[in-house]
Amino acid sequence: MTETFAVKLEEKCYIPDPRCKAAAWVPDYAQAYQEFVRDPEGFWDRIARELAWFKPWGRVREWNYPYARWFVDAKLNITHNCLDRHVASDRKEKPAIVWRGEDGEEQVVSYEALHREVMRFANGLKALGVGKGDRVCIYMPLVPEQIVAMLACARIGAVHSVVFGGFGPDALAMRINDAGAKVIVTADVGYRRGKTVPLREIAREALNHAPSVERVVVLRRESPAVDIDPAREVDYAALTAEAAPDCPAEVMDAEDPLFILYTSGSTGAPKGIVHTCGGYMVGTYYTMKCVFDVKENDVFWCTADPGWITGHSYVVYGPLAVGTTVVIAEGTPDYPDPGAYWRLVQDLGVTIFYTAPTTIRMFMRHGDEWPAKYDLSSLRVLGSVGEPLNPEAFEWYYHRIGGGRCPIVDTWWQTETGMHMVTTMVGEPMKPGFAGKPVPGAVVDVVDRTGAPVPPGTGGFLVIREPWPSMLRTVHGNDERYRTYWGTIPGCYTAGDLAVKDEDGYIMVIGRADDLIVVAGHNIGTAEVESALVSHEAVAEAAVIGKPDPLKGNVIKAFVTLRVGADSGDGLTDDLARHVRKSLGPVAVPAEIEYLDRLPKTRSGKIMRRVLKARELGMDPGDISTLEE
Ligand code: WTA
Repeated sequence: MTETFAVKLEEKCYIPDPRCKAAAWVPDYAQAYQEFVRDPEGFWDRIARELAWFKPWGRVREWNYPYARWFVDAKLNITHNCLDRHVASDRKEKPAIVWRGEDGEEQVVSYEALHREVMRFANGLKALGVGKGDRVCIYMPLVPEQIVAMLACARIGAVHSVVFGGFGPDALAMRINDAGAKVIVTADVGYRRGKTVPLREIAREALNHAPSVERVVVLRRESPAVDIDPAREVDYAALTAEAAPDCPAEVMDAEDPLFILYTSGSTGAPKGIVHTCGGYMVGTYYTMKCVFDVKENDVFWCTADPGWITGHSYVVYGPLAVGTTVVIAEGTPDYPDPGAYWRLVQDLGVTIFYTAPTTIRMFMRHGDEWPAKYDLSSLRVLGSVGEPLNPEAFEWYYHRIGGGRCPIVDTWWQTETGMHMVTTMVGEPMKPGFAGKPVPGAVVDVVDRTGAPVPPGTGGFLVIREPWPSMLRTVHGNDERYRTYWGTIPGCYTAGDLAVKDEDGYIMVIGRADDLIVVAGHNIGTAEVESALVSHEAVAEAAVIGKPDPLKGNVIKAFVTLRVGADSGDGLTDDLARHVRKSLGPVAVPAEIEYLDRLPKTRSGKIMRRVLKARELGMDPGDISTLEE
């Protein structure tokens, strides 16, 4: 591990419209945080009581370092909260899911219809011999049935492991085997950029190396329909049609596993993160409601695929637990043209929009004219997740998409945390480049390797000091790996990110701890240099790596993609070097700049510096199963 390091902070602050703050679920952040600190268990107890339980908890929390149990002995079913609770209220007819296909096809599924579909499919799974505790792998495109399959598992207490539909056969087989899945739910195809992704074919290939799978459920979308292999495959529609309509929700213990999700492997091999029913439900419900400030008539669009944690928490469980309408769209943001997303915001009247910085930067690259063509006045709150939202991207998002009107919640969290941990709550002053402060309920800090807090302006390790309801409980089949999260820095959960706080306690996430470059004894965060490069008008995206150097230990090499119309001639390299020198100082100036057409990324949009580095050094890039095609 590295030492702490100094960070130069330049701050700009946006004060939101006071009406936004007055109307928010959490109108006074400081007060809410104090209430939490005074009585953490009382804080979570009050939130949990907003949901429905079959049996209440004895204790809110039991902390036996590093193992936590939440809502001890309580019984519940998360689908009862996501479905039955709304069907029994006046949300029965309310759209739960609005799906848009690449070709413009639309499906609206009400809460009542979703409830019905989930119960039928749950009975279908039972008919295939799936029961409580069995693992089911879901390998599907972004269609309502993907969500139905997840909820159907939760309905009967089966543990789902969703694998993103962009993974190939080896990555899929590895995840199936690690989880020991009994059934896989897939589709003949997904649609992407006007082409088909042969999911079923990929699944068949994976199954040659995945002996645990007994049955394969296939959703058939193409016409004429593909033939089903009767020995092992089952047609999704037939299974649902034959199933009984009623399926009571299985009574689950709060600590029973809800799902396993493999983390995106931007570092090392994938890990099966295990989340449980009770705490995960409370954490996602609370952050969905309070961080996005969801009100009854909101239309919420999170652009993530349920194959990632962002989709689990903020496409499926969070939004449905709150009872909001969630938009999902199959396909890519710039197909058939770079106006696709903004057209959808306009057509559906989206009020809360949640996406990733990489998507925002892609739109910046396409130019202001695309969003300008559409009426985006329905938008009320904007969100960002997955990577640091650099100030240039913040500004663009804030002005071009939010019309200077919408608060931006830059949410820092992880697959492991299950829910948002750091953000700037709606109504609080926003500082571009800073995610914000710990959400009430989370104790997040920036520390040195001994766990002591570092002063403002000094970079250190981002840690979480206290357990929280939606924390991972273990790594599937590798509890030792779980213990290292809590065993690296004394008393803390180590997130693996570097960060810095300012005088006001705002946290800026610098990047992964393993993305630190030590140049001539100075620690330099890759994200810092990248942000400086991206602030140059010619640059669209940048990735930097450390390259061994006999004199300096390491030098910085930058890989850059240019904005449309920019040219790498005209002395641009010198200009970029000057630009970085000016903003970060000479130590951070890249020794080499290479221009690329695109950067290698994970399918969830994280730049894979590891791949660039391996190529540069002629080394093996390691596991690249998460690499975008
Ligand atoms: C990064 C995604 C800066 C971080 C929810 C973290 C962020 C990793 C932010 C987890 C943010 C996520 N600002 N960095 N707002 N959000 N990250 O498990 O490095 O796919 O550790 O979860 O993404 O990625 P994961």
